Amino acid sequence: MLVDEAKRAEYFSDHPSDVTLDMVDMARIPRHISCIMDGNGRWATSRGLARTEGHKAGIVSLREIITACVRLGVDVLSAYAFSTENWNRPKHEVNVLMHLFAKTFIDELPLLKRENVRVVFLGDISALPERTRQVFEYGLTECSEHTGMVLALAVNYGGRAELVRAARELAQEAAAGTLDPDRIDEDTVASHLYTAGLPDPELVIRTSGELRVSNYLLWQIAYAEFYITDTYWPDFDRWELIRAILAFQGRNRRFGGLNTAS
Ligand code: FPP
Repeated sequence: MLVDEAKRAEYFSDHPSDVTLDMVDMARIPRHISCIMDGNGRWATSRGLARTEGHKAGIVSLREIITACVRLGVDVLSAYAFSTENWNRPKHEVNVLMHLFAKTFIDELPLLKRENVRVVFLGDISALPERTRQVFEYGLTECSEHTGMVLALAVNYGGRAELVRAARELAQEAAAGTLDPDRIDEDTVASHLYTAGLPDPELVIRTSGELRVSNYLLWQIAYAEFYITDTYWPDFDRWELIRAILAFQGRNRRFGGLNTAS
């Protein structure tokens, strides 16, 4: 991804004491970074605020991480915004989230346009409330010509549901005689996932210290490196992202093979 180096230097100029941009190997930036944005509720509760205030603060963080990833030349940034299990939250919180998703997409359109960000949704957005779905569809068309970083938002997403959907589609094609079951390989399955055409995540970041995958991108994270931080998502900023990338760059990725570094 083409990067404006002057803008990047400026965006990362005001650095904390332990980390600078110079520490990052720009040739080894993960192509696809994925964020499990956890801890909004606890961030708010710890400040005596309503949980929904945490989600609002989480949006500010997401905006910063989108910009940071564009400046770093990341190809794909994905983020887990709402899982198929999140419908079980109190109705008020679900309603606020659905409203926030729609409002955020509209509010952030100028940023997405300015930075040439293409948006895709991972998950079944047809099941969202009418207004949210309409806004998402409008926003998608507004960004459809963009050629820069892909922002993949997982909304009403579940990894198992995604695999069931793929299995169903493959079975239908086989039954219709358009697909030979013997020719189904990993690429065929991948092409039936919401992430079709996107590289798999190389780095998955989970905030707020939970050590779980939570039904997220189950197929796609087969070889991803995980970075878990205790920081709540609303406190996750560009420098936290740099720390995650530095941890990633310090690892020896073997993909099931042997250590080639020594
Ligand atoms: C997890 O925190 C966070 C969420 C369920 C929602 C995150 C969504 C955003 C930041 C906005 C995304 C924007 C768009 C346009 C899709 P939590 O509530 O699980 O926190 P807790 O674990 O402390 O309770």
